[in-house]
Amino acid sequence: MHDGSGLIAVQNLTKQFGPVTAVQNLSFTVSPGSVTGFLGPNGAGKTTTLRMLLGLVKPTSGTATINGRPFHQLGQPGRVVGAVLEAQGFHPARTARNHLRVYASAIGVPDAQADQVIGLVGLGSAADRKVGGFSLGMKQRLALATALLGDPQVLVLDEPANGLDPEGIAWLRTFLQSYARMGRTVLISSHLLAEVEQTVDQVVIISRGQTMFYGPLQQLRQSQQKRVLVQPSDLNALATALRAEGVQAIEQLPDGRLAVSGVESKQVADTALKAGVSIYGIQEEQVDLERLFFQLTSGQYAGYAPAPYQQQQQQGGWH
Ligand SMILES: Nc1ncnc2c1ncn2[C@@H]1O[C@H](COP(=O)(O)OP(=O)(O)OP(=O)(O)O)[C@@H](O)[C@H]1O
Ligand SMILES: [Mg+2]
Repeated sequence: MHDGSGLIAVQNLTKQFGPVTAVQNLSFTVSPGSVTGFLGPNGAGKTTTLRMLLGLVKPTSGTATINGRPFHQLGQPGRVVGAVLEAQGFHPARTARNHLRVYASAIGVPDAQADQVIGLVGLGSAADRKVGGFSLGMKQRLALATALLGDPQVLVLDEPANGLDPEGIAWLRTFLQSYARMGRTVLISSHLLAEVEQTVDQVVIISRGQTMFYGPLQQLRQSQQKRVLVQPSDLNALATALRAEGVQAIEQLPDGRLAVSGVESKQVADTALKAGVSIYGIQEEQVDLERLFFQLTSGQYAGYAPAPYQQQQQQGGWH
């Protein structure tokens, strides 16, 4: 039927909608036992990629497989892969429990499983309420419960944190991590790196349908060179002393400090002492993943601030 590996493999995937290239030559794999974040700004091609993976959109070229097979060749797909895509439709007059029972019977799992997943996602007390009255976050939880019905080996969630409150996000994080630790494959999309930063082990970052970064989150952090930010009594004297030691990457910041790359703060402090320069403040810059994410993905639908807001920014001195 399929190889049972739980591996998601996307290879040279491209999707063209008329003149729009939604996904362009995208390749990545997602292995069992880890949570992978699929990240990119609005319109980057995340949902289109996931829809191709789930057999809902036909690729223009390339392949997307689960367990080595395209979705429609999976046999019992409901038991292999559970998915939540955006804009999930629910019958508004159905209760959550009945909704789940309908899906349970469709994929051939017992009703008891419906009751179990509803408790798992924290909707036990709302199980017999009509879904039409559910909040966005409750609908997200119900969609997740639906995806979990077949106890799937592979979980694919499109923006699952959308609409969840902080407690819900924390719960989702723990849940997905423990699901992955059980040997399952978890792929979640988001347009916010910060939202999934603490949940994912590796990331695939896309922009305009193309891969910008693919690898462990740790590697992304390390790709940004650390800088030492220092406030010396004499900028020129410290810069000259550092250059004399072979340190070239020195930059003056608008706030009057020096930013020195590729060194430890100890070296900067020792050099300053030898040069007779006082140090009023010194710190190692924290790696700012969000800034890195912006740099990698900036652009496609970037808006402009209205004029008064731009003015305010300039007056405030933020650039
Ligand atoms: N059915 C379609 N017909 C035409 N264009 C489409 C279709 N589906 C998606 N697109 C286009 O493909 C591009 C990628 O869209 P997609 O929905 O995959 O982005 P996304 O990364 O999921 O964005 P978001 O964060 O806003 O959900 C967009 O330019 C979008 O307009
Ligand atoms: Mg989307």
